[in-house]
Amino acid sequence: MTVLSATSRAVESFAAPDPFMVRIRDLIYQVAGIFHADNKLRALEERCMRRMQVLAIKTYRDYYDCLTVKSIRQAELVALLNEITIGETCFFRNQPQIDGIRNIVLPKILEQRAKLSLRHLRIWSAGCSTGEEPYTLCMIMLEETATRLKGWTFEILATDLNERSLNHAKNGVYNAYSTRNLPALFREKYFAANGNDLQIDRNVKNYVNFSRLNLTDETKMLFMKGLDMILCCNVLIYFDGASKKRVIQHFYNGLLPHGYLFLGHSESLYGVSEDFRLVHMPSSTAYVKGKRNV
Ligand SMILES: C[S@@+](CC[C@H](N)C(=O)[O-])C[C@H]1O[C@@H](n2cnc3c(N)ncnc32)[C@H](O)[C@@H]1O
Repeated sequence: MTVLSATSRAVESFAAPDPFMVRIRDLIYQVAGIFHADNKLRALEERCMRRMQVLAIKTYRDYYDCLTVKSIRQAELVALLNEITIGETCFFRNQPQIDGIRNIVLPKILEQRAKLSLRHLRIWSAGCSTGEEPYTLCMIMLEETATRLKGWTFEILATDLNERSLNHAKNGVYNAYSTRNLPALFREKYFAANGNDLQIDRNVKNYVNFSRLNLTDETKMLFMKGLDMILCCNVLIYFDGASKKRVIQHFYNGLLPHGYLFLGHSESLYGVSEDFRLVHMPSSTAYVKGKRNV
């Protein structure tokens, strides 16, 4: 009996995936650039099943119809993308990167920018999840307003595909897990207690403009221009090579000539783009716009 059920489980796990599941996988890739390899299909199936339960749908075929031909298709696609995007993040997630931005990159950008008359910086957190990354950046910038940023203004654009995460970000209330790396100075200066959680200060919120943006939306990406810094950390890991190349090309076009791009700790532009120069900072890296050896 035990042997039989183990065998049937093995057979099940080697069985070809449902063809409509494969179509859903391809649709998600087409819409959001997120690719689920065959060995990740099971995880995608689970996420679809959650939505199918909500809609009382029994087969992947019917669910595929919901995503493609039924009148609810657009809303359902958004709901499915909310399920499948992974929003792991926290405040001060990458301290060496933050130190590099503050002490190395920001002074370089200000030096370049001082040549232009407009003393205003634009920073974009692309794939901001629940907001910890852009709020961290904002607090760092606010810390500099009395010194390096005296006489300057700045804005932070924060975008994500996941509507639920964006609502959380706009609300600005964070639990102990999200704030586990938050230095005491920042906790005291920029947060107020909200039960067991922490609420971000309204002044910080005012600098950060959250909106829904799909990084693979070719039209909307054209509007992301005039940027001094782009952070796109731990987002492109879910993309395949072709989608990564397209997104990075948009970043290149959106950055000002001296602009910097930051990726996650384990990510690089190797094999993706040669249009940026790698900058080594203590325990972290950045990319500056401009071809190597130019
Ligand atoms: C792991 S989180 C990274 C959060 C933050 N950048 C950090 O490093 O802490 C990845 C985020 O990328 C977003 N994402 C995935 N695909 C996207 C797409 N096509 N367009 C915009 N955001 C996307 C997800 O919704 C998720 O919030």
